Amino acid sequence: MLTYPLEERGGLPLYEYLYRRIRADILAGTLAVGERLPSKRQLAEHLHVSVITVENAYAQLEAEGYVFAKPKRGFFVAPVVPLPAPPPSPPLPSIPVPKAAWRLDLKRTQVDASRFPVATWARLTRQVLSEDSGALLRPVPQQGLPALRQAIAEDLRDYKGMAVSPEQIVVGAGAEYLYLLLAQLLGREAVFAVEDPGYPKIRLVYEACGAVCRPVPLDTRGIDMDALAVAGANIVHISPSHHYPTGLVTPIGRRQELLQWADRTGGTIIEDDYDSEFRFSGRPIPTLQSIDSSGRVIYMNTFSQTISPSMRMGFMVLPPQLLARYRRDLGFYACTVPALEQHVLARFLSGGHYEQHLSRMRKEYRVRRDRVLDAFRSSPFADRISISEQGAGLHFLLRLETVRSDEALRRQAQTLGVRLGFLSEYAAVPSAAYAHTLVVNYAGLAAEQLPEAMALLAQIFAE
Ligand SMILES: Cc1ncc(COP(=O)(O)O)c(C=O)c1O
Repeated sequence: MLTYPLEERGGLPLYEYLYRRIRADILAGTLAVGERLPSKRQLAEHLHVSVITVENAYAQLEAEGYVFAKPKRGFFVAPVVPLPAPPPSPPLPSIPVPKAAWRLDLKRTQVDASRFPVATWARLTRQVLSEDSGALLRPVPQQGLPALRQAIAEDLRDYKGMAVSPEQIVVGAGAEYLYLLLAQLLGREAVFAVEDPGYPKIRLVYEACGAVCRPVPLDTRGIDMDALAVAGANIVHISPSHHYPTGLVTPIGRRQELLQWADRTGGTIIEDDYDSEFRFSGRPIPTLQSIDSSGRVIYMNTFSQTISPSMRMGFMVLPPQLLARYRRDLGFYACTVPALEQHVLARFLSGGHYEQHLSRMRKEYRVRRDRVLDAFRSSPFADRISISEQGAGLHFLLRLETVRSDEALRRQAQTLGVRLGFLSEYAAVPSAAYAHTLVVNYAGLAAEQLPEAMALLAQIFAE
């Protein structure tokens, strides 16, 4: 009779322990092919367990094909090739906790999370759950929740002067996911011109999708039109409102040249409007999409900068022709943003909370940026730096006079717990022109941190 020490089953339910032990005996050949198992009642009595326990164990063995039943005769071992017992599974490794935060991190794109209206977000979440809980379990349309697309279209109309139908909007899990969709939509044979230097993920995602990317240099007004002409690209991906990481703002003249390029060549412009919301002076610059009369511009934006990168929410606006192609070729993709987040964001936008938050953050970041710039300008190394910033965005460039390489500066910074980002890291084609230039993301730098930050930088920059 089968005998197993049930007290060794640890946390396993009785039936599961029994099933595992019999399975192991079958795999080891201890129970031979064709051998009859004891009846459920006999085994239950023998092991002092209930018949149900044995019944469940046998049922599981039968479902997996280790035993088969013969009517009125009981269970028999099925023909299974005996296998050596698998090694005991090692304990699950735990995911390492990220290293202690940097003492000073000027590289990571951060937002000031402490200012986010968490209470409002929580209230809207409760509202959605109590008023429309059924909606959470209904499928979300592929392009995103209609209420969210409507709210985005209204926000674009009211704050960016863009006439966009909610039908044209596709919601996705952040800009980088939308790049992936665009690579598929525009075809693997498309040649993408990307800004150099520029946000590296744009190139990485397009190339990972098998598309060809041609880095095109910038001049003082944005992407260099002569270089674009020789790049042989049919798509150009740009951030004309506030280029990351140089901060360049493309003036209207260059925007018109870009639209003419698209008309002349039948090309497409992807307007990546990241970091456009934080303009500290003057009026917002009209988007390329809003002055495009030929349907050649795809507009995209993300809530990473305005709410938080952890939200993973972005959207794109497709011109009519590409929308038809999107629906035909990619309409099978499910929307990647969960329903609850979409419902809450829709209410956050349509209730005016989003623009209120932006307006508060604009004030906050303006003060913060001025303080940071003042701290740099009155630092011990002030006469060896030059700062370029255009009154916009959450980062600026800082050029340092030094004989040391970027790598040497980075290493020394690391030993002091400081993380620095360099313009050279954003370049596809290396150039001496980018050396000794830091990209300073200042949004996470609070006033009380500034004295320590300047002291640390003084140590790093000392020749
Ligand atoms: C031009 C540009 N677009 C988009 C992003 C990030 O977008 P997401 O977090 O939605 O992927 C960045 C981040 O630096 C960026 O520089």
